[in-house]
Amino acid sequence: MAPMEGVVDWPLRFAISRYSEIDYFVTEFMRVTTQVYPPHEFYKYCPELLQTSLINNVPVGFQLLGGGAHTIAANAVAAVQLGARGIDLNFGCPAKTVNRHDGGATLLQHPERIHEIVRETRSRLPASIPLSVKMRLGFSDKHLAHENFAAAVKGGASWITIHGRTKDQMYKPSADWHSIAKLNQPNLLPVFANGDIFSITDFVECHKTTGTKQFMLGRGLLANPFLVREIKAFIRQEPLPVIGDSLTNLLAEFFVACVHFKSQAYAISRMKQWMNSLRQHFPFVQDAFDELRILRDEAFVERLWTLLDFSSTDVQFVNEKIEPLVPRVFHSRAWWKTQSTQTQATQSATSNSNHDSALSKMSGTTNSDAFLEARNLN
Ligand SMILES: Cc1cc2nc3c(=O)[nH]c(=O)nc-3n(C[C@H](O)[C@H](O)[C@H](O)COP(=O)(O)O)c2cc1C
Repeated sequence: MAPMEGVVDWPLRFAISRYSEIDYFVTEFMRVTTQVYPPHEFYKYCPELLQTSLINNVPVGFQLLGGGAHTIAANAVAAVQLGARGIDLNFGCPAKTVNRHDGGATLLQHPERIHEIVRETRSRLPASIPLSVKMRLGFSDKHLAHENFAAAVKGGASWITIHGRTKDQMYKPSADWHSIAKLNQPNLLPVFANGDIFSITDFVECHKTTGTKQFMLGRGLLANPFLVREIKAFIRQEPLPVIGDSLTNLLAEFFVACVHFKSQAYAISRMKQWMNSLRQHFPFVQDAFDELRILRDEAFVERLWTLLDFSSTDVQFVNEKIEPLVPRVFHSRAWWKTQSTQTQATQSATSNSNHDSALSKMSGTTNSDAFLEARNLN
């Protein structure tokens, strides 16, 4: 799943990972300037670090953004020491503030700096830790696309995700899958195609156009959290999964997870945000959204449970089920310190087996090849 700042945080990863067949998550970006962050900052972005960097068995990569090779590398090392299973470098963020401070897509104007950042980071990380790169096709235009891609390859990237737009294009017009095809060199390293996969048809078209076998989905998964499951069922030539109560259960779990993660107010605002995406795909969410968006506090919560058809016993049940799974992310700094010491100790003992499974999940050329062949999609 694509990293999305302000959207794909722990509660969303928690809920969606239980109902989807997502293979890998990437955290929201952590912006690196001059310092190496203390552990609690890493845990904020990735509470999963406290649970061997897995969420419902799905590995979570840690994304860093910045223009300083040394500080990026040092923060990557710190993340890995806390248990990160992979590091992802963001060279795609189009936000003005971020670009003004030498981070994100602005680096796409300087292939040599991309090379330096990737090389330095790669050289400081254990070989078992994948270092991925996420980039756009360019800053204002695409003329440096090949140079930027080559710089990341030469720096030692394990795989590269390409969002098929320039920074100036932000999120419109349509993603340019043809340009991704020109960069895709399957014998060199895995390339993940990203941008505008909202349906099985889009997926097939993207695969045919780009030639890639790896895909990153963002907004399409927010509109339909079951999209990856549907795509995988399609590839396996199985009937599409029946959604049944899954969406209401998923939303209930998301809400409860948000309350545990921060507060009820946070849960309400995040629920409205996600419903706004879901209503594109699910008509019943549109109706619920129309009612809920004007409600606040207890009135929202009460109506939400009624609309989801949850009784107070169901809510209690969800709560009890989720509570033990919640990493204790918002405790005191003293608590963080004890945890980080313990986590480092346990994780150095388990890291090798963890990385093996993360890598095998990410190799991208496993069973899916046979499935794509069966569907004549290769
Ligand atoms: C709200 C929002 C936040 C995003 N935050 C990040 C981010 O933190 N890191 C990143 O690499 N990309 C970020 N992106 C870009 C997405 O990862 C993805 O590249 C883009 O949405 C295109 O894919 P899609 O069409 O499947 O959504 C963000 C996109 C959106 C819409």
